[in-house]
Amino acid sequence: MQIQKNASLLGYNSFGINAKAEELLTVEHSSEIHELIEKHLSTVNKHLFLGGGNNIVFVGDFQGLVVCMANKGIHKVGEDTDSVFVEAEAGEVWDDFVWQCLEKQWYGLENLVAIPSSIGAAAVQNIGAYGVEAKDFIHQVRAYNITDGTEKIFSNTDCRFGYRDSLFKHCYGRYLIASITFRLQKTPKLNLSYTAVNQCLAKNNMDNPTPKQLAQCIADLRWSKLPKPEAMGSVGSFFKNPVVTATHYETLKERYPDIVAYPAGDGYKLAAGWMIEKSGWKGRALGRAGVYEKQALVLVNLGGCDGYDVVRLANAVTADVESMFGVRLQPEAILIRNY
Ligand code: EPU
Repeated sequence: MQIQKNASLLGYNSFGINAKAEELLTVEHSSEIHELIEKHLSTVNKHLFLGGGNNIVFVGDFQGLVVCMANKGIHKVGEDTDSVFVEAEAGEVWDDFVWQCLEKQWYGLENLVAIPSSIGAAAVQNIGAYGVEAKDFIHQVRAYNITDGTEKIFSNTDCRFGYRDSLFKHCYGRYLIASITFRLQKTPKLNLSYTAVNQCLAKNNMDNPTPKQLAQCIADLRWSKLPKPEAMGSVGSFFKNPVVTATHYETLKERYPDIVAYPAGDGYKLAAGWMIEKSGWKGRALGRAGVYEKQALVLVNLGGCDGYDVVRLANAVTADVESMFGVRLQPEAILIRNY
């Protein structure tokens, strides 16, 4: 394992921020994890595990060791009557995995196609789209506790998954995810619960889509709203959709009858994109960061943007949404700052 000193992180984060890491190291194979923990992590005072860097915003340079997970491998490890169990290494690219599963006729992940993520990050973030979340198909996670180097298998329940949330997000940096085992369906059960998905299928005259047709339709839908990574840096949705009480929602509904919201537990999940648009920020810029013109939940790099530009814009948007709707937006993205 080669350590690079004072390395540029430009190629390691989808926002395209040119921060530097004091040290950078890439794990190409799971067999290197023990050496990583014993030799390198034990001697640094700060570290960061990175997958594809698709959900990370570097605010300033990183004064420590960045570990890029690039271990690859996808294997069927078991099956029962209805399911196959498939283990994927943390450094696999999520979208490649989804398509490989479809090729092998292992089903369930169709709605999560075209999400920029690594396998490891998919568990940290519990990625989700169009009525499906990664947690619905994660059977277990194999990770290392970096404080003592022991391996631990986390069951789905152990992972404490929530909306874009997991145990791994709460003790960030403590567990190094090596691989995830998914439980996938042998017979497809397509999730067509979202209106946008149905509209997209209808437009393409697909009444009874195959899983691959559904995946292609969803990929097209995603890319119609999100910037292509090669054109503009972003982390997909920058903010989470906030959940408010039913009373708060009723008050807002009276004031803004067209507010977009969905029931969530005892309260309502509000479409943050709608609120940001209503606050006037859609398509606007602040310095070198902007609010994407086709989807207001997405902040974009307008060229040469750094993490401070992103924070300034995020704070301005958050303040305006809060003063209009009384809701404080929380970032979905993970901001990496030097303290
Ligand atoms: N909307 C607006 N203006 C906007 C954006 C959205 O009015 O600029 C309204 C629309 O009415 C739309 C509603 O908000 O009907 C919801 O928008 P959309 O379907 O685009 O979904 P979202 O809530 O903005 C979430 C996820 C996405 C996921 C989509 C589809 C979060 C933080 N984001 O976005 O995930 O693809 O649903 O399920 O939950 C991601 O996490 O990076 C991501 C892209």
